[in-house]
Amino acid sequence: MLIHEFRYKGSDLYCEGVKLADLVDEVGTPCYVYSYKTFIEHFERLKKAFGSIQPLICYSMKACSNLALVRALVKKGAGLDIVSGGELFRAKKALCRGEKVVFAGVGKSDGEIRKALEVGVLLFNVESESELNAIQRIASSLKKRTSAALRLNPNIGAGGHAYTTTGGYLSKFGIDFETAQTLFLKRYRWPDVHLCGVHVHIGSQILETRPFVEALKRTLKFIEKIRLRGVKIQYLDFGGGLGIIYDRERAQSPADYAQGLVPFFRKSKCKIILEPGRFISGNSGVFLTKVQYVKPTAKKRFIIVDGAMNDLVRPALYGSFHDIFPVRRNGQARKILADVVGPVCESGDFLAKDRRLPEVNEGEYLAVLSAGAYGFSMSSNYNSRPRAAEVLVKGSRFYVIRRRELLNDLVRGERIPAFLR
Ligand code: LLP
Repeated sequence: MLIHEFRYKGSDLYCEGVKLADLVDEVGTPCYVYSYKTFIEHFERLKKAFGSIQPLICYSMKACSNLALVRALVKKGAGLDIVSGGELFRAKKALCRGEKVVFAGVGKSDGEIRKALEVGVLLFNVESESELNAIQRIASSLKKRTSAALRLNPNIGAGGHAYTTTGGYLSKFGIDFETAQTLFLKRYRWPDVHLCGVHVHIGSQILETRPFVEALKRTLKFIEKIRLRGVKIQYLDFGGGLGIIYDRERAQSPADYAQGLVPFFRKSKCKIILEPGRFISGNSGVFLTKVQYVKPTAKKRFIIVDGAMNDLVRPALYGSFHDIFPVRRNGQARKILADVVGPVCESGDFLAKDRRLPEVNEGEYLAVLSAGAYGFSMSSNYNSRPRAAEVLVKGSRFYVIRRRELLNDLVRGERIPAFLR
């Protein structure tokens, strides 16, 4: 069931108690708008579904890493799943304690490892033997100890798109069972890295429980096997990946997901960690954009808007579907078939293709739905477009949580060398 706080009251689309047309008058477009209620409720729903085993829910910041949103979850007791030094920096700014941070990623740099050791993260989720060596070397030089999990590749891939499927043997992620077993048995070689967990993340936008359960069964078998060899496994970090409704998907509910997994989690006798990203932020955010021009051509009708692939790249990159609603219904019942495209100089710059939409006029506004995950966080300055503003709505108030970028932000850090002056 799709649950969010973006609804029409009369002709106007609201986020909670805020009329989006009013918000746009003040903030302008393009902008992202997030519902605090939807965001927190999704976290709470997941927490409730797994209530019987009390996992540590580490929000996967890459989905949407605005400090205000991250802080909101941290205040509710969430931990964080990070994947870079930049995300560690954000985690600290959001006042998340190190012992609630798990650090993933195939290519952690020495600098990032050093920072994470200084902060004292709960777990490094390690993806290779070379990475283990690096963590050992740096930990020993800093006289620090740390805990780590090996990220397993259970050879099950699932997800909404090939680019977001991470579990097959052709993927760069994780370590096959055999190699992982060898590393666990050689754990004495990393005396400052306490290898005490396993991590699994098979992909993103997974709609059914089956691949999760299959991956978990294989993982459990592995845990049992290495326990027999004397390895103590304390943590099972089962990643993220829970899919959401963008269009007409039949997504599993958190309750279905929990029901499928909890029996195995219990059996593992581990502290369970979950890393949801999209499930928490996806349906909590919309992207608002203004219709600049309507351009009928011989073959097609284009609705040219002021938001583009640099703001929301998912349609261009994955062919993703995002529903589009007018911010104010203009009373025209007729539907038209159109491409909704941005001003960027690429044919791949579209937010929707061959979409049936209510007829819209120049100067009106559109809301692109389910844009809260991998929306702003994947945005760029391509075509030297300042990045959009981000706004948080709570009840009948709204807060600009990231101001629209200024032209000067575009060239921040750039220098013209003396010989060119
Ligand atoms: N944990 C790890 C180790 C991950 O790599 C990811 C996502 C997550 C957790 C959170 O997954 P989620 O619950 O959000 O599915 N840009 C793509 C999605 C990339 C996902 C990357 N990893 C998209 O827009 O669909």
